[in-house]
Amino acid sequence: MKIAIDGPAASGKTSLGRALARHFGCRFVETGKMYRAVALAFQRGLALDGIEIDVSEDGRLLLNGEDVSDLLHTPGLDRGSSEVATIPAVRERLVSLQRAIADRADVVMEGRDIGTVVLPDADVKIFLSASPEVRARRRVEQRGGGGYAETLREIIRRDERDSTREIAPLNPASDATIIVTDQKTLTEVISEAIHLVKERLEGRWDHG
Ligand code: C5P
Repeated sequence: MKIAIDGPAASGKTSLGRALARHFGCRFVETGKMYRAVALAFQRGLALDGIEIDVSEDGRLLLNGEDVSDLLHTPGLDRGSSEVATIPAVRERLVSLQRAIADRADVVMEGRDIGTVVLPDADVKIFLSASPEVRARRRVEQRGGGGYAETLREIIRRDERDSTREIAPLNPASDATIIVTDQKTLTEVISEAIHLVKERLEGRWDHG
């Protein structure tokens, strides 16, 4: 089974993806971490052909064998990752890594282009959306408060870069179910998504 979750920054993809993966017994893959790891490698002065990226089954990110998972969520890499994500050679490398992982296992994979580019044949495609203000508020709460104005500015800047880049811009796939989460709790979003996946799977079995 392949479940694709896409959506803008801080739309709740990771919380939803983790819950769905646990519920359906799939591997959970956060593709944003891979772009963040490339940005980190560039910060360290490495070139793309000097970078080896691997993801362990429990989601740890290895950059040339080093576990860099705990270094990836900084404001510099929020920005840096969305910059390297505009480079075609970077996307090519990471998309083929993502497809190789999905070939080997049932996955819930989250990112920006999973339903459109990486797994166009995914069994279920979910696109999460929420206003920038709601997303900024949630992100600030996650971090324990403070810095709302700057967080909002950064989210809007990242939305702009992710939606206007030439390759694989952030867009819902034509067959994605869009869940608008502004007025919903995480629990509500998770149960809506579980319901959707079950419906799809039952439909598939009904049709043989
Ligand atoms: O999801 P996360 O915030 O960790 O992603 C970091 C950046 O990586 C995004 O802003 C986006 O530019 C890029 N990205 C992407 N395609 C994906 C996943 C992430 O372009 N599938």
